Amino acid sequence: MNLNSTPSNIKDRLIIALDVPGRDDALRLVDSLGGAVGMFKIGSQLFTAEGPQLVREIVSAGERVFLDLKFHDIPNTVAGAVESAARLGVSILNVHTLGGSEMMRAASHAVGDRGLLWITRPAVLGVTVLTSMDKADLADVGITSELSSEVVRLATLARDSGLDGIVASPHEIRLIRECITAERFIILTAGIRPEWAEKGDQKRIATPASAIRDGADFIVIGRAVTDSPDPRAAVARILDEISAL
Ligand code: C5P
Repeated sequence: MNLNSTPSNIKDRLIIALDVPGRDDALRLVDSLGGAVGMFKIGSQLFTAEGPQLVREIVSAGERVFLDLKFHDIPNTVAGAVESAARLGVSILNVHTLGGSEMMRAASHAVGDRGLLWITRPAVLGVTVLTSMDKADLADVGITSELSSEVVRLATLARDSGLDGIVASPHEIRLIRECITAERFIILTAGIRPEWAEKGDQKRIATPASAIRDGADFIVIGRAVTDSPDPRAAVARILDEISAL
């Protein structure tokens, strides 16, 4: 997949979150959904339990991986972590934009300066404001601007620091597209719920179709698919809904 343009096949824009405790559950989902979706997201729960070997295993099985570890540290440490992640063959990885411009530049450099051994260059995305945070939470950590303007500010900083795009809530996609125009800039969004799925603990949610319509390149879906008795059927239903746009 060439991440320099939005994948033309709609299934390639669907990322399934493997928020499961261990390898067996993860590989069961990969087996059942392999080829039907674009990528699998491995976050801190699964990575902490199973380590890089599981990432290698899923990549070797021919599937793409988004390594969602949200690096946030001094630039030198983040550059090293990004380089290690790139060596695993992941397609997307991410860092916190609040780590600052120098840290983001170091992350971007770490994948950009790859040598001949590298096969693919992963896209490096910046997490703007965690979707679990609201205005009051931001104020608690000293950020008093409006949430949406903070997201746009951090997205602009990510672009100016050489990142390939950002992770944002579905509610900010349109605004970011309006403010960052005329260039390739990936927007990946989570907090997605089909109308027919359980809302769970989600508050600020959007349907897959509305997130795509608003301009998301990639949507991450977890429990709506992984908790379904038939994950493959759930994926087919989501893809039908998006295709009907
Ligand atoms: O809620 P769901 O199971 O679809 O979440 C899938 C992934 O999306 C989770 O791994 C979580 O990290 C991320 N997420 C998010 N923002 C939300 C909800 C979920 O980033 N509001």
